[in-house]
Amino acid sequence: MGKILITGVAGLLGSRLADWLVNNTDYKVIGIDDLSGGFSENINRNVEFYKFNLIDLQALKGVFEKENIEIVYHFAAYAAEGLSPFIRKYNYENNLIASTNLITCSIQYNISRFVFASSMSVYGNKYDPPFNEDLPQAPIDPYAIAKYAVEMDLEIAYQQHGLKYTIIRPHNFYGINQNIWDKYRNVLGIWMYQVLNKKNPTIFGDGSQVRAFSYVDDAIAPMWKASQSKKCIGQIINLGGIKEYSISEACNILINVTGLNIDPIYLEPRHETKYAWSTWDKSVELLDFEHKIDLEEGLTKMWGWAKNQPNRERFIWPKYELNKGIYDYWKQE
Ligand SMILES: NC(=O)c1ccc[n+]([C@@H]2O[C@H](COP(=O)([O-])OP(=O)(O)OC[C@H]3O[C@@H](n4cnc5c(N)ncnc54)[C@H](O)[C@@H]3O)[C@@H](O)[C@H]2O)c1
Repeated sequence: MGKILITGVAGLLGSRLADWLVNNTDYKVIGIDDLSGGFSENINRNVEFYKFNLIDLQALKGVFEKENIEIVYHFAAYAAEGLSPFIRKYNYENNLIASTNLITCSIQYNISRFVFASSMSVYGNKYDPPFNEDLPQAPIDPYAIAKYAVEMDLEIAYQQHGLKYTIIRPHNFYGINQNIWDKYRNVLGIWMYQVLNKKNPTIFGDGSQVRAFSYVDDAIAPMWKASQSKKCIGQIINLGGIKEYSISEACNILINVTGLNIDPIYLEPRHETKYAWSTWDKSVELLDFEHKIDLEEGLTKMWGWAKNQPNRERFIWPKYELNKGIYDYWKQE
């Protein structure tokens, strides 16, 4: 039986891909996660699970030595883009150095395909959307720089060592198993936490930012195809939504889904790309991507799930590496 390694297996994309692989393929799934941002309850019980941070190269080598891994899906990262300038060291260690450890092992142990979840953030705010894959990367924060650097490291690992990779640039996936308890990331999850806790949903700036959201299930079969198709080797492929919404519109859809009588609160704007969505033609052509679940339906599913979740304590950074320029709403006591 072949083996597939998923890093970030306790997170949104990793846990849902693991479920799908267990149910639809003969592969044995090996999972790594340090549970810093995901939850053990999300991990399919047929997954062989290892809990550690990918920064630990020795532990990682141990897994490769033991498991004879064929395919790697690299999803582990702390995706708090807006916070990344205030936790630079953590960001680069956790998202970049950790990734290079995985690339080292993947070369050393001759895996056949490395699928990396990069991010739409690598396009920055230099271009008018939709962003297509031929645009040069132009990141505007450390999170996106780490993603860009990993993309480049994969490219040279392919040239020098023949490591076959596929880069997926997802954007704005949401759904069941998403971390809704982190104060700093994923707008829909933040709103759900707030609404569940009887608080008004908050919007940074005036809410005219535009994003295209996709339900997590729509990402899974394309992720599978990414490791299976020879045409995907050495490719960069956007993945995500075909319909754009302003942040205010998206918030109203969520409020309607909850059936509650609440209004959003508008906060100080933050350093971010205002209009951001990507082309999807290449994902349709190479990965058979289909946008099946629209925002209202997806939020209805996620809301049903969220209401039955344990009331976890919200994750708040005890101390940032840098306080200068931090937004009022993230200031520490
Ligand atoms: N969800 C999206 O729409 C989206 C968009 C763009 C990019 N991405 C990228 O896709 C990947 C998966 O996203 P997601 O939404 O599932 O995120 P997620 O936060 O739900 O999952 C990430 C998982 O990785 C684990 N993790 C983080 N750093 C680790 C490390 N160094 N070692 C071991 N485990 C670690 C966390 O505990 C978590 O369970 C991430 O790399 C993210 O940057 C996601």
